[in-house]
Amino acid sequence: MKNRKLVMIPGPTPVVRSIQNEMGRETVAFGDPTFVKDYKETIEDLKKLFDCDGEVFLIAGTGTLAMEMAIANNLKAGENILIVSHGFFGDRFVNLCERKGLNVDVLQSDWGDIVPLDKIDEKLASKKYSAITVTHVDTSTGVCAPVAQIGEIVKKYEDTLYIVDGVCATAGVEENMKKMNIDVLLTGSQKAFGVAPGLALVLANNKSIEKRKSLGVIPEYYVDYENWFAVMKDPSKYFATPAVNMVWAMKESVRIIKEEGLEARYERHIKNAKAMQAALEELGFKILAKKEHRAPTLSCVLYMDGINDAEFRSTLAEEGVVVAGGLGAFAGKMFRLGHMGNIDKHDLVSTISAIERTLNRVGIKDALGKGTAVLMRELEN
Ligand SMILES: Cc1ncc(COP(=O)(O)O)c(C=O)c1O
Repeated sequence: MKNRKLVMIPGPTPVVRSIQNEMGRETVAFGDPTFVKDYKETIEDLKKLFDCDGEVFLIAGTGTLAMEMAIANNLKAGENILIVSHGFFGDRFVNLCERKGLNVDVLQSDWGDIVPLDKIDEKLASKKYSAITVTHVDTSTGVCAPVAQIGEIVKKYEDTLYIVDGVCATAGVEENMKKMNIDVLLTGSQKAFGVAPGLALVLANNKSIEKRKSLGVIPEYYVDYENWFAVMKDPSKYFATPAVNMVWAMKESVRIIKEEGLEARYERHIKNAKAMQAALEELGFKILAKKEHRAPTLSCVLYMDGINDAEFRSTLAEEGVVVAGGLGAFAGKMFRLGHMGNIDKHDLVSTISAIERTLNRVGIKDALGKGTAVLMRELEN
């Protein structure tokens, strides 16, 4: 019998039927009044959900494009930027910002840990930075940055814009732009929103919009806020063709989020993550991120001695669950497991039990049922 494959990589995450249905609808003209209304409503809902007092840019692209959009519109060549990096995706800003001709300073943690808050404060006090970037959840390490606490620090530095990469967090880990002093929040559709890949989102508050206006003509074209303002205010206007079906899919995702309630959704992610991590530890794995910094959206899971990464992941795929490999120095040493978006208890139980069957098949014979029991106890608490 052919298995249903459960895609438990840290994005794209499983796409529920009602969202798939939106992607499968007959495409209409982007000027179609019903689509224009849907697009506008989605933008307004996103503003409300994340407390954005400026503009939401919802355009075709990926998380990396959203990173580029955030940098392009908020800094010009020669300005100083501080990058706080907890892994591979934090480091991605370095390359992006160097290409832009920015003066880049980086604070990097060991993988699994965070940069201490006093180091960030010290660095921000040492010179004038036009912006700081923080990756909320670094998908290479499963570390969740203390975004609210960093926001409190950044508040002291009025000229510094706070840019948060929420690609592996937004809609799964609390983010409130006003409360957390975030000026730009960027993300993509394929992770905690539970939509297929294809949309880039940049939520810019008024301070960021003012900064864009002060920059005059910028070198970038597609990602220029100025080219999108009119469209976001009135989506019947054209700049570049909107991804009609993806916008509908995002509208459905937002409907699901509103129905669940943001608070409940954040709580569910925390509970699920704790349960999954406890089950994995019961099975003998270790989690890369220190306990106090573990993300609610994914886990980076270190193998015990004697497990071969390629064999483990291909056997797990045969058992019906797909996970991702480790990045950087952790390639071959761990797997990355997403547990975010619109997944439910069935997905979690199926995942842990498939991991147990896999362990059994690769020679660890006492695994069956052990992790599942812990998982279910944690979930039912
Ligand atoms: C935290 C983080 N930032 C940025 C990106 C880049 O996003 P994309 O692959 O959609 O371009 C990713 C992708 O996984 C990510 O996890």
